[in-house]
Amino acid sequence: MKETWWKEAVVYQIYPRSFMDSNGDGIGDLGGIIRKLDYLKELGVNVIWLSPIYRSPNDDNGYDISDYCEIMEEFGTMEEFDRLLKAMHERGLKLMMDLVVNHTSDEHPWFQAALKDKNSPYRDYYFFRDGKPGGLPPNNWCSHFGFSAWEKEPEGEQYFLHLYTKKQPDLNWDNPSVREEVYRIMQFWTDKGIDGFRMDVINYISKAAELPDMPEDGPHLATPYFANGPHVHEYLQEMNRRILSQRDFITVGEMVSVTTDQARLYTHEDRHELNMVFTFEHMYLDAVGEDKWQIRQWKLSELKAVFGKWQTSLADGCWNSLYLNNHDQARMVSRFGDDGKYRVESAKMLATFLHTLQGTPYIYQGEELGMTNIRFGSIDQYKDIDTLNHYAEAVTVFHEDPKRVMEAIYAKGRDNARTPMQWDASPNAGFTDAVPWIPVNPNYTEINAEAAIRDTESIYHYYQDLIRIRRHHKVVVYGDYNPVCEEHPSIYAYTRRYQGQMLLVVLNFFSDPAVIDLPKACLPENGVRLIGNYEDAPACEVHMKLRAFEAVAFLGGDGGEQIMI
Ligand code: NOJ
Repeated sequence: MKETWWKEAVVYQIYPRSFMDSNGDGIGDLGGIIRKLDYLKELGVNVIWLSPIYRSPNDDNGYDISDYCEIMEEFGTMEEFDRLLKAMHERGLKLMMDLVVNHTSDEHPWFQAALKDKNSPYRDYYFFRDGKPGGLPPNNWCSHFGFSAWEKEPEGEQYFLHLYTKKQPDLNWDNPSVREEVYRIMQFWTDKGIDGFRMDVINYISKAAELPDMPEDGPHLATPYFANGPHVHEYLQEMNRRILSQRDFITVGEMVSVTTDQARLYTHEDRHELNMVFTFEHMYLDAVGEDKWQIRQWKLSELKAVFGKWQTSLADGCWNSLYLNNHDQARMVSRFGDDGKYRVESAKMLATFLHTLQGTPYIYQGEELGMTNIRFGSIDQYKDIDTLNHYAEAVTVFHEDPKRVMEAIYAKGRDNARTPMQWDASPNAGFTDAVPWIPVNPNYTEINAEAAIRDTESIYHYYQDLIRIRRHHKVVVYGDYNPVCEEHPSIYAYTRRYQGQMLLVVLNFFSDPAVIDLPKACLPENGVRLIGNYEDAPACEVHMKLRAFEAVAFLGGDGGEQIMI
């Protein structure tokens, strides 16, 4: 196992629009992030991943970029960015930028030039194709955000491909000039001194040559024809040679539809592509297939199977990313825990889970406070294009019951994660003096950073402890993963071993108390409690009884007796 800084790190994701407003326009900005750096330093994280801050018309909140080397006006200026980066580095924090290059905005000059002139070299930066007879689009693919993946150009005959909104045309990576442009952008930010890249849907950059129809009739998400395509590894290796190899970067590729075998190809240390991928497999545990809006109850047995598979498959020469929420997902405590009576216990239990597996943990802003999902009264209050498109398509095209559609939005809508960060109990949660761009979750009077910092038993302080433990004990970072009593219906238990140390983690995923009888071989020698979410803890013994959402980790093995936190 190669020891590396980014394996030992904890990443914190900022969604700038909702983090902190410093200039009173209701929108978070770079000045706001600068103000809160000490908060992040105090929490103990090492790397900040910034969701996109580039110039953008904001059809998809910055994931539609019109200038990759300018800052979005609402977020600030390049001078402020430079100040932010300097302030981060002064505090020993590293910066990971979001690289969104599967598509641009339709307002990007390349796309504008492509629209204006059929003979422009920029035409081949994108996928322009003739429609089929009868006024049909070139193929039957649908976009991730509902409706067809093709849009007719405004004043021409052809259609262009967009796997997301029609304001996000896909780039044609088979064109070498496109790749050169991407490397130029990456070099620009590399020269500024950033420390890594999170790459948006990067396994979509190589599409099947003929863009074939999906077999069945009707629009389909044509994943087999655009995910993990024929040249994706060649392009990532080229990117690595040209840019990523220049520095000891941290890199993670967001990858919808990736198997563990494919992830090994993307992340194996000998292949020189990426450090980690964001898999979505666990994000579909409560969905029917890959349709997130079709909800079903997730099962612990399946959660164990998915995490177990990723833990063991990436164990040699590869590395996992660990997350349960981000700006695209519901809040983890609402989804996998209990955001009512056991909010604190279950948020701590889930955090214990993420921070004691093998991989690099990613914390999404507000997760460390146990922020919860939101239920806005009507669809008009929602801002997210994915949610709005889904509602329109489900209700008007498929005639689904609007009440049921809203229930799915309450559970899975991306705005759950995008309500403003809850800083204190003052109006608008201390996020802004103005009207926030999206309403604050009314529970901010109780759930907020100021209150959490004051309360030594808070979720926030528990995260501090988890991060500290990671710094002090290599077994937490590098230990292997061995599931224990896998058939247990409500407890998830596993051990980790590294250089003579052993960690035992026992987690009750539900509110009913539960007992477990552990094999003796799983008990660390001279095991001491490393962390737990109740004041007292069960003894490190074969028979263990866990309370509602109880989490406990024991450390032992060689030298276990001397271990202190
Ligand atoms: C994934 C991003 O995380 C999401 O927010 C965005 O809508 C799509 N990619 C398109 O860029």
